[in-house]
Amino acid sequence: MIDHGKYAAAVAGGLLGTRLIRIDADRPLAAQIKSAAAALRAGCLVAFPTETVYGLGANALDAEAIRHIFTAKGRPADNPLIVHIVDPADIADLAVAVSDDAGSLLAAFSPGPLTLILKKKQLVPATVTAGLDTVAIRIPAHPVARELIRQAGVPVAAPSANRSGRPSPTRAWHVKQDLWGRVSYILDGGSCAYGLESTVLDLSGEQPVILRPGSITAEQIRQVVGKVCLAADPVDDVKPENRSGTPRSPGLKYRHYAPRARLLVADAVDLGQRTEQIGQLIFRTQADNLKVGVICSQEILRPLLEKFSFLPLGGKVVYNNEQQVFSITYAEKSDAQAAGTVLFDALRRLDQAGVDVIIAEGMPADENSAAYMNRLAKAAQKE
Ligand code: TXA
Ligand code: MG
Repeated sequence: MIDHGKYAAAVAGGLLGTRLIRIDADRPLAAQIKSAAAALRAGCLVAFPTETVYGLGANALDAEAIRHIFTAKGRPADNPLIVHIVDPADIADLAVAVSDDAGSLLAAFSPGPLTLILKKKQLVPATVTAGLDTVAIRIPAHPVARELIRQAGVPVAAPSANRSGRPSPTRAWHVKQDLWGRVSYILDGGSCAYGLESTVLDLSGEQPVILRPGSITAEQIRQVVGKVCLAADPVDDVKPENRSGTPRSPGLKYRHYAPRARLLVADAVDLGQRTEQIGQLIFRTQADNLKVGVICSQEILRPLLEKFSFLPLGGKVVYNNEQQVFSITYAEKSDAQAAGTVLFDALRRLDQAGVDVIIAEGMPADENSAAYMNRLAKAAQKE
């Protein structure tokens, strides 16, 4: 066990000696993860890759260790954490009465980007669940996450490894940017496959309810459990007037994912109109002498090349003249899933490039675009 008082002070001051370890995401070597797993078990913080986003892990059974997560992130204490495990049999220690629905969903989507909310057992500290009588459980698929949890030998509580309010991290450098000096280890497993967080599904009530849309869609869940509904307008829950009372998923009431630049969403349903809309937004932004970046598909960008001068944003930041528009394209065709894989990385890269305004391509609202549009709407939300 570590000295939690000293550790807490170092986390708060950003004074920890963070170690970054590069690991082959497909074939993690047990030896590379050994010291991080031991530190995790002993009460330290370890950031690690998952197939959705990077997680900021602590021993879920150690209430003191959990407090370090909230300190490192600057996270409000009333926002509960997801508990990550490897073996489905371990759910029985954490949750009561695992229903047939839960069993079928686990069989269909686990390991993977699905989080289930179940009635909690005593073993789970109240700091993990923010005092709720339910616990969020996920079985990640990422080999590095799995090896870390297996070696640690304890369930691992992990929110996304960003400072509260910032875009979730999908690359190790994003974690480094937000949490250097505040975690003991960062395991660098490259980029996260999905790029958006898991679907959070509440199974603690009468009916399954999606609290946070994610990679597993409502349709996929419906195919397994018959019916499912989406929590009443989760995006609207971040509006200040809706902040009173207890939302069903506490995290939904906070501002999220926000870049430093102002984010505008071009959400016309028709592709041609969306292209037009982005053109108009660029024009207006430049008329105000502001620097602008866009995130869109190549089929959207192509017609705009006739009107504007674009500078594709590579790995490193480049200086452009005021009239050039930084661009990040994610695929040839417009597609919510593909856009979702680059979104958080694109927001951070455009911020680094120093733009004032980011224009992101929205998608027609349907179940496949729900996760992407939910994150975009929250990131665009003004305080
Ligand atoms: O993909 C993911 O889910 C990532 C990776 C690291 O697993 N984790 C993640 O955690 O996104 P976080 O803390 O950023 O988001 C967890 C969400 C929050 O909206 C929180 O309010 C909700 O899950 N949540 C956690 N426990 C809950 C509970 N018992 N009841 C309702 N909502 C809960
Ligand atoms: Mg988060």
